[in-house]
Amino acid sequence: MRIAVCPGSFDPVTLGHLDIIDRASKLFDKVIVLVSFNASKSQAAFTPTERMKMIIEVTGHLDNVVVDCYNGLLADYLKKTGANAIVKGLRAVSDFEYEFQMALANKKLYSDAETVFLTTTGENMFLSSSVVKEIASFGGDITGFVPPQILDTITERLYKPENNRD
Ligand code: PNS
Repeated sequence: MRIAVCPGSFDPVTLGHLDIIDRASKLFDKVIVLVSFNASKSQAAFTPTERMKMIIEVTGHLDNVVVDCYNGLLADYLKKTGANAIVKGLRAVSDFEYEFQMALANKKLYSDAETVFLTTTGENMFLSSSVVKEIASFGGDITGFVPPQILDTITERLYKPENNRD
């Protein structure tokens, strides 16, 4: 059985993430979407449980996708679960250096850890959780940025009225 892990902060999950998860689910027998911890992103908008719930809601139509959370090294999670690959989306050249470094570090930590990069679709090139958080904090419309099922939850949580003071 070919098992892939799609790791990320998912704070919150976007349509760009969902596109990668959807495409990975067609390439692998099972996909584990893993809410993981990025040491350089200390201030999260959503708790890990909230992030998992949102991912479960928007991936319900994908039979071979499960959601998990792990507060440790990705390489250790792969060893523990017997997963074969890490699947990551690549938006632009700017993503490459960081992702390449992580792929090599994971391979060094666990020689069976293969990273597979899927290129983002043109329409999602600009999209990131940070962009979603920035726009929503000003009360901007994030329709088309996040899955419709979780649009209201995200909009309500992220809006900061103080951002719109003159
Ligand atoms: O969505 P992000 O924040 O770009 O995802 C990065 C993430 C969470 C996948 C990465 O920071 C990670 O793998 N964290 C788990 C801890 C770990 O294994 N770090 C070393 C990676 S070289």
